[in-house]
Amino acid sequence: MTGDAAISVQHLWKIFGPKAGRHVGSALSRAEIRARYGCLVAVRDVGFTVAPGEVFVVMGLSGSGKSTLVRCLTRLIEPTRGEVRIDGESVTGMGRRALLDLRRHRVAMVFQHFGLLPHRRVIDNIGYGLEIQGVGRAERHRRAGEMLSLVGLDGYADSYPDQLSGGMQQRVGLARALAADPGVLLFDEPFSALDPLIRRDMQAEVTRLHAEVGKTMLFITHDLSEALKLGDRIAVLRDGALVQVGTPEELVGAPADDYVTDFVRDVPRADVLTCRWITRLPTASDPLDGPPVSATTVIRNAVETVLRADRPIRVMDGDTLLGVIDRDAVLPVLTGAGPAGRGASTAGTGTPRSTGAGAIGAGGARAGDAPAEVRA
Ligand SMILES: Nc1ncnc2c1ncn2[C@@H]1O[C@H](COP(=O)(O)OP(=O)(O)OP(=O)(O)O)[C@@H](O)[C@H]1O
Ligand SMILES: [Mg+2]
Repeated sequence: MTGDAAISVQHLWKIFGPKAGRHVGSALSRAEIRARYGCLVAVRDVGFTVAPGEVFVVMGLSGSGKSTLVRCLTRLIEPTRGEVRIDGESVTGMGRRALLDLRRHRVAMVFQHFGLLPHRRVIDNIGYGLEIQGVGRAERHRRAGEMLSLVGLDGYADSYPDQLSGGMQQRVGLARALAADPGVLLFDEPFSALDPLIRRDMQAEVTRLHAEVGKTMLFITHDLSEALKLGDRIAVLRDGALVQVGTPEELVGAPADDYVTDFVRDVPRADVLTCRWITRLPTASDPLDGPPVSATTVIRNAVETVLRADRPIRVMDGDTLLGVIDRDAVLPVLTGAGPAGRGASTAGTGTPRSTGAGAIGAGGARAGDAPAEVRA
């Protein structure tokens, strides 16, 4: 599994403070270690993998260790223990040269504060990474110009950063990150300084760019709606440790603990959970000629069919009948009353959602797995 991963993190620890290495593997809580030893466990035994082309979101409250984690991936912060691999190559084992090469060519980062150089024109900000790589001026400008178009800023090449709005500056930040054509993009709360409407535009922009350029993305946010919108999978950090890794559907349908439950409390479940989630096996008295719906349809989009039908609707996976849904199953989801999450997902063992047609249940047992198949 780790061999195919774009990013693989295993047993990663980052502890700040004196003799930090001593506390690796400690069973004491963050607060106890801090009180007794004056060390801060920012990242605690974190492990996950990100598939090529996947959008992997890390979320958690302020101080939960998100920025430390993402900085450890390229060793902008040196991990205390553990392993990071990018495209199968050990980052934690790299020498200085290989590490510089990784940061210049293969991984780019977009920060909350755009970090543009104020005295350089937009075009030269975008081309900055290429300049460091030693790419000639003409080629730099050509490539930067392409990126400028890609992020919708044609015509702003000669502007200076302070002549642009916050949203436009972050587009320049995006273009700069894309210019070196890295395989992996890391985002550390890139839109949290933007007002809500601009923020929504930028989220749509990331989705569009992802579809267009297909990079592997690791995206940090503390905004759940942003996480649900962007993430193929979401990892939730608490006090430096992962408490759950799963698809948006798994987090909303089967939160692993009270912390995750708190995060997802206000999410409209019918907009996230799919029909598969509430499918049940038909009983002997169920007619099996109701209208069909695909298992991957979001429940909200099946409500009308369910409510209009005078019999259970059939939930299909292609030609295979998975089971049925009736109004008794749909109404609690709409009113937010349930159902109680089925199954559970476990931190660190999530499986990437395939990038094809929404394939909940692709590989491995998933929360919300449908009942055993029934042949139609
Ligand atoms: N250089 C440092 N020295 C000591 N403690 C640090 C250092 N950097 C971070 N920390 C601590 O590590 C913990 C995690 O910090 P981090 O910045 O990773 O959190 P975060 O999840 O990114 O928070 P935010 O949402 O506020 O950005 C915090 O308690 C922070 O105080
Ligand atoms: Mg942070």
